[in-house]
Amino acid sequence: MALTLTLLGRPGDRIAVENPSYANALSVIRQLGLRAAPVPVTEDGWDAELFGATLRQSAPRLAYLIPDFQNPTGRLMPREQRQRIIADARATGTWLVVDETIADIALDVATPPPFASLVAGRGAEQIVTVGSLSKGHWSGLRVGWVRAGTRLITELTAQRVTADMSGSVLDQLVALRLIAREPQILGRRLPLLRAQRDHLAAQLRREFPDWRWQTPQGGMCLWIDLGRPIAGPLTRAALRHGVRIEGGSRFGADPGTFEHRLRWPYTQPAEVADEAVRRIAAALDAGLDGADEEPGRPYWVA
Ligand SMILES: Cc1ncc(COP(=O)(O)O)c(C=O)c1O
Repeated sequence: MALTLTLLGRPGDRIAVENPSYANALSVIRQLGLRAAPVPVTEDGWDAELFGATLRQSAPRLAYLIPDFQNPTGRLMPREQRQRIIADARATGTWLVVDETIADIALDVATPPPFASLVAGRGAEQIVTVGSLSKGHWSGLRVGWVRAGTRLITELTAQRVTADMSGSVLDQLVALRLIAREPQILGRRLPLLRAQRDHLAAQLRREFPDWRWQTPQGGMCLWIDLGRPIAGPLTRAALRHGVRIEGGSRFGADPGTFEHRLRWPYTQPAEVADEAVRRIAAALDAGLDGADEEPGRPYWVA
């Protein structure tokens, strides 16, 4: 993703981004000096009308999208909206950088077809798709992929040579074996994640009846509305109770936003999730005053 954005963007170029969006992508965008034009993703998902208006008004060079189980909202973009965004981007000459990292984590629906498959012929050349093996397999296996037109791939390959020549060949060989066994691996992994999602949701409902979220059809986290802007103090207090969890503001295109949101992954087994819920409840019971103090050494939970 960073390689693609570096190749296609120059400092000062505009990039349409979903708001909220994947925190590390927003960091890369800031580091590269790209100017983010945020478009909201709400409980109702994307507003393709607004997205189109943003493209027409600012003709951004790039747009970064996570259409499949968006991080952090978990929303899945409907097919008609995809088609509309593709048409709008084509009209403004905007490159679509589509992040399919989470696409395989389809818990209640079939895995969506690749975004770029909706376009025939040369139109697809304005779409660059990136992904990785981290969600379906293991985030310790640092193998990612890019799918794009031949010319862009050649340029990306040349750019990669000056960075670190290539990824580890050993890791890529492991990745090849995993890809060959993907149906079996996902066949075990997805039911586990589904059960962990439902377990965590039940625990949270019991412990924090005022919190609200929409059950995501895929992906790995709940995007929780806390009802009040306490995410910063709450996450700092949680850390003092040994739980690391992210508040919403890291996912906002602008600093200080989404303070009423907590992003709670369901990647941990039930007993760890239960312990995290207990500790966060204890952190809340103890009160959030003083949560700005330097936290102790954490026991990493989520
Ligand atoms: C949308 C999205 N893109 C990319 C990544 C990063 O993947 P990796 O750990 O394989 O670099 C993540 C990880 O959370 C993600 O949610």
